[in-house]
Amino acid sequence: MFKKTIFMAIAATALLASPAFADGDGAKVFKKKCKACHAIKAGKNKSGPSLAGIFGKKAGEVKGYKKYKGLKGSSLVWDEKNLDGWLKNPKKFIGKSTSMSAKLKKEDDRKAIIEYLKGI
Ligand code: HEC
Repeated sequence: MFKKTIFMAIAATALLASPAFADGDGAKVFKKKCKACHAIKAGKNKSGPSLAGIFGKKAGEVKGYKKYKGLKGSSLVWDEKNLDGWLKNPKKFIGKSTSMSAKLKKEDDRKAIIEYLKGI
């Protein structure tokens, strides 16, 4: 009986823990590498623009964000290919200086974060 209780407790913990995994690596990467400068809440701009609904949007047009530098007047659209290039090396990708200094060198991290951005 005691053993069974322990087993149930472990099983319950595993179940409770799983949503954190379901959230995916993208959320983890975001927390670690992007959150300091970006919010995912619409209208909340930090030193970088809010990333709510950014996938599929035109670059440099987040409402209320006035600090665009490299992306000002850009005609890019944030699809998978452009996001991948931007996140790998923002400055090199747009060929201008930018205040986004973050670089995601690992392809897996970029893939995960792009999937994450699609859902916010
Ligand atoms: C040091 C602060 C900083 C960090 C860290 C950072 N960003 Fe940025 N990000 C910016 C700034 C500033 C801009 C605006 C760039 C410009 O116009 O030059 C920007 C722009 C963007 C844009 C384009 C937004 C638009 O309105 O077109 C995307 C997408 C983006 N960042 C994604 C990310 C992701 C994903 C991460 C994490 C891997 C990240 N950023 C990390 C500061 C940051």
